[in-house]
Amino acid sequence: MKPLFINCSPKKRFCASAYFLSLQRLFVRGEKVTKKLRTPADHARILMEFNDAQAVVFCLPLYVDGIPSHVLRFMEEMEAYCKKNSLHLSLYCIANNGFIEGRQNEPLMQSFEHFCSRAGLTWGGGVGIGGGVMLNVTRIVFVVDIALLVLNTVLSMINTGNFFPKEAWISFGENAALLLYFNLGVLFYLARMGSSIRKGTASGKKYTRILIPSFIFILFADVFFIIISLFEGGLFRGWLAKKEIENG
Ligand SMILES: Cc1cc2nc3c(=O)[nH]c(=O)nc-3n(C[C@H](O)[C@H](O)[C@H](O)COP(=O)(O)O)c2cc1C
Repeated sequence: MKPLFINCSPKKRFCASAYFLSLQRLFVRGEKVTKKLRTPADHARILMEFNDAQAVVFCLPLYVDGIPSHVLRFMEEMEAYCKKNSLHLSLYCIANNGFIEGRQNEPLMQSFEHFCSRAGLTWGGGVGIGGGVMLNVTRIVFVVDIALLVLNTVLSMINTGNFFPKEAWISFGENAALLLYFNLGVLFYLARMGSSIRKGTASGKKYTRILIPSFIFILFADVFFIIISLFEGGLFRGWLAKKEIENG
């Protein structure tokens, strides 16, 4: 009996859900199964895994204060499947949202809680994470920091024969500590939930966020989305662009 982790983000790559799921997996020892839920074609493959699982962990984004519609479709099938096969799994949930307050995931958590009682499953609890997009960016920044450290070390070896450029290591250490600090709330609550998943107990609903002050978050988020918008179809994703009127 192994825990089943379901990444429910509809994105193909670089989704925040994949990041939080990989962190959650660190805190659950033993054999684990991870599946991706994007389209109805994934349903049968995931449902089959339920027969061999004692716990299922949904990791998903918050969409319009609720559960994304493709996940709702899956949950309808899941309910029927679990009832038909008398499965009484424990269900846990990791939800992340773009705005800074993790508590915005509360309605989504309640939906899962009600779903569990309706489908005859055990509600294990969840972690709601605010600033999901920005936390996801921290892992990319960390990879860039490692690349810079390697580059500095190579350059130092070539130029001075020094294998340990102290300045570069101090700068890397400072950046890594800062990124770790941003993620501390998430790591703490995922560690707690990991322990509950292992023991098969309930962990309750917990909310956390990226650990930076809100006014800094807003500043960075504005700059980030302006840059992304410019890359993906112009300023504000075409909000300011002239719209074509469809006839008929
Ligand atoms: C259609 C849609 C609706 C969204 N609704 C909300 C919302 O109500 N509140 C919020 O804070 N973020 C909202 N977001 C932002 C996502 O929750 C956020 O980008 C999340 O990190 C995506 O996770 P993923 O990368 O795992 O897919 C929405 C995003 C999309 C595309």
